[in-house]
Amino acid sequence: MLGKVQIGDNTQRHAPIGLGCSFYGVARYDESEASGLLDAMAASLQGGITHFDTAHAYGDGESERLIGRFLAADASRRERMLLASKANLTDLTVEAMSQAIELSRNRLGIDLIDIYYIHWPITNADLRPWAEALETARMRGRIRAIGVSNFSIAQIEQVAEVAQIDVLQIGYNLLWRFPEVDLIPYCHERGISIIAYSALASGILGGNYQRQLSFAPHDQRWSILHFRDGIWDALYPSVVQFNEVAERAGLALSQLALRWILHQPGVTAALVSAKSRRQALANCAALEANIDASILEELGAISDTAMKHIPAEGNPFGYYP
Ligand SMILES: NC(=O)c1ccc[n+]([C@@H]2O[C@H](COP(=O)([O-])OP(=O)(O)OC[C@H]3O[C@@H](n4cnc5c(N)ncnc54)[C@H](OP(=O)(O)O)[C@@H]3O)[C@@H](O)[C@H]2O)c1
Repeated sequence: MLGKVQIGDNTQRHAPIGLGCSFYGVARYDESEASGLLDAMAASLQGGITHFDTAHAYGDGESERLIGRFLAADASRRERMLLASKANLTDLTVEAMSQAIELSRNRLGIDLIDIYYIHWPITNADLRPWAEALETARMRGRIRAIGVSNFSIAQIEQVAEVAQIDVLQIGYNLLWRFPEVDLIPYCHERGISIIAYSALASGILGGNYQRQLSFAPHDQRWSILHFRDGIWDALYPSVVQFNEVAERAGLALSQLALRWILHQPGVTAALVSAKSRRQALANCAALEANIDASILEELGAISDTAMKHIPAEGNPFGYYP
C-alpha cells in the first residue's frame, strides 16, 4: 500500500490518489445516475481514496451539492476525508473570493474545507486580493490549506506575497509532462505540494479510445488538444504501446499511469475521475498494486516519444481566462 501524504501543514495525511469530481453534476443526471455517482464515491472512500476534489465550476455547484449529499448520508464520512474545492472567478476582489468560500461551504454542508483553490488565474491580473481572502479564511478556520491551480511560477510568486501557498494543482500525466521543466522543481524546492490532475489524460490512459474517435459533434472532448486532427493520429502508436506494456504486466493501464505519476520526483498526489463503482475500485487498486520500477521506466520512454507530438501550449483545454 502506498504511504499517505500531507498537503500543507494543517491537513491530515491521506492516500496519494484523489477522486476527481468534475463529472458530478456537469451532465444532467436523473436519480438513478446520481445513485451511481454516489456509489462511485462510496467505493472510493471504502477502498482508501479519501481525498475528493471538486469545484464550484463543476456543474455550477452541482458537484459540491452531490458531495454534500454524500456526506450528509453518513456523519462518519467527513472525518475520514480530505475535501478540496475551488473558485473560478472574474471579480478580482477579496469580497468575491470570501463569498465563494462561503457558498462552497454551504453547498458541501461543512464548516471547514481542507483545501481551497484559486481554480484559474486571470492573465496579467493582480491576483493578490483572492489570496488575501484565502489567508483570512484560513485564520478564521474556514479552510485548512491554500491552493492555486493552473498558475505559472510568476503567478505563484505574486500571490505568495500575501499568503502561504500550500499546493499547486496542475495537469500532469504520461501525455502532458511540461510541468517537469519548471513548475514541479520550483514547488518541490519550496515545499509546495503538487497535485496532478487529468491523471489518465482525459481517459486516454484508461485505454478507452480507438484510433477512430467516435465522439458526438458537440462532445467537449473535441476541445482537448490530444484529440485534435494531426495530433491524435501521431500519438496513437504510443497509446498502443502503453496498452501492450500493461497487458504484459497483467495490470490495467490506468493503474500503471497513476503509479507512473506518483513515481516522479516532486509529485504529491494524483487526481482521477471515476463515474462508476467499477472505475473507482480499479483506481483504488492502484494504491496497492505491486509494480516494478522497470515497467514505469518503460512507460516513461514511450512517453518521451509521444511528447514530441504534443505542442507546448499552456493547458490541454485551450482555456485562458
Ligand atoms: N484544476 C483544474 O483546472 C482541473 C482540470 C481538469 C481536471 N481537474 C481535476 O482532475 C480530475 C481528473 O481529471 P479528468 O477528469 O480531466 O481526467 P482523468 O481523470 O484523466 O480521466 C477521466 C476519465 O478516465 C476514465 N477512467 C477513470 N477511471 C478509469 C479506470 N479505472 N479505467 C478506465 N478508465 C477510467 C473515465 O472515462 P469514461 O468517461 O470513458 O468513463 C473518465 O472520464 C477532475 O475530476 C478534477 O477533479 C482539475
